[in-house]
Amino acid sequence: MQLEDLQSLTQQALSEIEAAPSADALENLRVQYLGRKGKLPEIMASLKDVAPEDRPAFGQGANAFKVQVTSAIQSRKDDLLSTATPADALDVTLPGNAGQPGSLHPIHQILARVINIFDRIGFNVATGPDVDTVFNNFDALNTPADHPSRDEQDTFYLKDGSLLRTQTSPIQIRHMLNNPPPVRIIAPGRAYRRDTPDATHSATFHQVEGLYVAEKVSMADLKGDLTYFAHEIVGKNTQVRFRPHFFPFTEPSVEVDFTCHVCKGKGCRVCKNSGWIEILGAGMVDPQVFENVGYNPETTSGYAFGMGLERIAMIMLEIDDIRRLYENDARFLRQFA
Ligand code: PHE
Repeated sequence: MQLEDLQSLTQQALSEIEAAPSADALENLRVQYLGRKGKLPEIMASLKDVAPEDRPAFGQGANAFKVQVTSAIQSRKDDLLSTATPADALDVTLPGNAGQPGSLHPIHQILARVINIFDRIGFNVATGPDVDTVFNNFDALNTPADHPSRDEQDTFYLKDGSLLRTQTSPIQIRHMLNNPPPVRIIAPGRAYRRDTPDATHSATFHQVEGLYVAEKVSMADLKGDLTYFAHEIVGKNTQVRFRPHFFPFTEPSVEVDFTCHVCKGKGCRVCKNSGWIEILGAGMVDPQVFENVGYNPETTSGYAFGMGLERIAMIMLEIDDIRRLYENDARFLRQFA
């Protein structure tokens, strides 16, 4: 090694040290330049090969190498230490702020289950607007002009003569007006009635209805499909009871009860000791409804059913007051997340 080599080696060492990214990298450089098997002993050993007249200068250069490299390492070390933990440094060992993942509202959890169950037997989801016509909500559904549900006490009418639908049945009318049979739809949505809120009533609530129309649909199809639904949503041992009832748009009409999911039919507080819980309304579509939507009542038959989602959610999730579903109290909702 000659004097020029020593000078460029010194420059190289100083710039590498200044750029050392970490304490480890700096330590490697120290070993590489000053260590026992490093450059410094090498420099010392090469002194004997330098021409005698150059030796003093080379000796000084060797000394300068040692002094400068040593002090550069020290000052880089100080730098690294002082930037490692400034007062505002991010302490990656602190526990993080856990996010609070959202979840579906209980009503939509139940709706998702209902849709999934009917999806498996071929039902598609249909939707419609919350504001609908008197024709779609009442007339087409064979509801007589003097039916109490049409009363202003029970229905929200808008200034232009339309209304907030009181049930999701108008979705079925809309669907039939726009599609020829066969029809196999499930129709979820909000419905509105002028109800004074209490533990079981809300002016806004949700329904989901089903409609199956084809050539030879019978009450047996209705019973079979709703029994399948009961088994899927509550459990395989659930029994289903059909009680005669009346709806303007179905004939015959039934109300459908499931055995109480809490006492399994023995009788308890939840089912008021009857063993049964009323779940939905249903029936065979009245031929007049087919007439109203332009279907041929002679060749068309079908069943329809409808249920209140709040009611199902309250029963399944043991919620004691419908109003809790709308209060947006995260402490309440989190229980069902
Ligand atoms: N629309 C009815 C109601 O709101 C429920 C229903 C739907 C009943 C379909 C029978 C058939 O009460």
